[in-house]
Amino acid sequence: MERTPSKTWRIAVLTSGAGRGSNLQALYEYFKKHSLPVEIAFATASRKDAPVVQLCEKLNIPCYILSPKKDKDFENQLLELCQQEKIELIALAGFMNLLSSSFLEKVKIPVLNIHPALLPKYGGKGMYGMNVHNAVFASDDKVSGVTVHLVDPQYDNGPIIAQVKVDISDCKSPEEIAAKVLEIEHQTYAPVIYQFLCKYYAPEK
Ligand code: GAR
Repeated sequence: MERTPSKTWRIAVLTSGAGRGSNLQALYEYFKKHSLPVEIAFATASRKDAPVVQLCEKLNIPCYILSPKKDKDFENQLLELCQQEKIELIALAGFMNLLSSSFLEKVKIPVLNIHPALLPKYGGKGMYGMNVHNAVFASDDKVSGVTVHLVDPQYDNGPIIAQVKVDISDCKSPEEIAAKVLEIEHQTYAPVIYQFLCKYYAPEK
């Protein structure tokens, strides 16, 4: 699809579980601050009491309660929403479930994920949130980081789009690592998404 000067890319942001939403907020603020033609057309949360629901209200972003675990037809509903809303990219931000190959084929748009470590280390089933930082802390690693990658039907497995290293040699707990890494996540995801959109939808020469 070609981007015309008046075109605004429409993206959806998926969260799950407790859905804190700090990455969603960082995306929103970055696109706004830099007046970029990217709109978060909707977000999803898996529970109506997730903090991200209130955040969406504050930011005026439509938020749908859709749970990959509770809603049997989760992927069909998501597909329908993406089509209805003319979504051009899905960004996972704290979304802890798999998306099937059938969904990824049908939706026909790129799906990106942010992971709080340097993949392929500390990725895979069960490696999310504090589990990642606990494992990194238990290792001898002096460096952790952030990975943005394309999503395929396996956990943390798709092609890597960007990685940023974070020096954790001074971190005295997994929580300190988490805080340091999260700060870099907030600086990384939005520009990477924007650059990805520019390249992916660049008119062919
Ligand atoms: C982020 O640290 C994100 O990298 C991680 O969940 C957190 C969500 O925080 N995602 C994963 O671990 C995926 N494997 P947020 O709700 O404040 O954006």
